[in-house]
Amino acid sequence: MKTEIFVNSPQSLALACALLESSEVVALPTETVYGLAGNAFDETSVRKIFLAKSRPYFDPLIVHLSRRYLTAPEGLVPALIRDGVLHSSLESSPDRMHIDLLAKRFWPGPLTLVLPRGALVSDIVTGNQSTVAIRIPAHEVFQSVLRLLPFPLAAPSANRFGRISPTTADHVESELGGRIAGILDGGPCSIGVESTILKLENGEAILLRPGGIPSTEIGDCIGRIPRSASIRAANPEAPGMLDEHYAPGKPLILIPEPIDSHRELPGLLQDLGKSERLGLLIHAPVKSNFDLDRFKTYRILSPTGSDVEAAKNLFSFLRELDGDPFIDVIIADLPSDHSFGIFAAIADRLQRASRNKPSIPHK
Ligand code: TXA
Ligand code: MG
Repeated sequence: MKTEIFVNSPQSLALACALLESSEVVALPTETVYGLAGNAFDETSVRKIFLAKSRPYFDPLIVHLSRRYLTAPEGLVPALIRDGVLHSSLESSPDRMHIDLLAKRFWPGPLTLVLPRGALVSDIVTGNQSTVAIRIPAHEVFQSVLRLLPFPLAAPSANRFGRISPTTADHVESELGGRIAGILDGGPCSIGVESTILKLENGEAILLRPGGIPSTEIGDCIGRIPRSASIRAANPEAPGMLDEHYAPGKPLILIPEPIDSHRELPGLLQDLGKSERLGLLIHAPVKSNFDLDRFKTYRILSPTGSDVEAAKNLFSFLRELDGDPFIDVIIADLPSDHSFGIFAAIADRLQRASRNKPSIPHK
């Protein structure tokens, strides 16, 4: 299949919509990562998403909605019930207040809510579960496409299953070129890690995936920091939150603190042996007496140590190191307080990327 690459123009928006209306799948930019979009109400379209990504059917998709819902005269939740996205039980649910508070503060934006599903969402979108994950993305291009369509769009990250998420149209082309009908190029994604996923149930908020919105901000909004789901490899509450994910092809060793204060580094480097060609991915600049020349190449996620900037660079730097022919092993580090802000999401992605890879003990 030939994959059309569209630049952002009225004509290409119309062409992308025509493809989506005829049950094809098209990669679209969001503010977090690129998504592979298809009609959420159409099984043929949704099946194509799973096929293109080689994604197992047990792993459900997020349904992306038009920002029009935020100004629906009857209110957000009643409009989504009317349109078959959410279940009518939500009308008088204890979760209703949280939905309204969170939507007002964070939508459009990088927050996904898992809620009881409506009848029109395809069974394959939800993995036959009784819930559906929904989000109103902020990216103008994605919103322009939604405005032109009479249905919402199911969209997972536009990478092959288990691999590094794409934050540019080039990344999508290298992952899915030849397997999808089109890619709409909206430039690099501004946030760079996926949305925060919250499940709302019985008046409680459960964090299924750390992401673009820190849990402290969620706590500020609803009065309580969400509790984290116990995520186990066999049966995680978010079925796609597998232990090994976001993975480069090369081994990645994660040091859970700043590399220049890690006392076991000399031993680690010795264990790896001189034959290994090492690439380094660090979250901030290292102390001046730290010898970077031991590494073939390095990338600094943020010269100022900012979580927001680090998140934006994470996947593209990881991808660059993975594609560097002079590197065999990637070593990454984290700040000492890696639960701070979006560092929680960065730490989560790097932990998964390093799972089942050589590991080193915490000091
Ligand atoms: O930022 C994002 O969320 C990006 C952009 C494209 O919107 N999308 C994204 O989708 O990251 P994906 O498919 O790569 O990750 C969605 C996660 C998966 O771990 C999936 O298992 C979980 O959301 N999920 C989807 N529906 C769910 C549901 N009903 N219950 C629990 N988890 C769900
Ligand atoms: Mg993904």
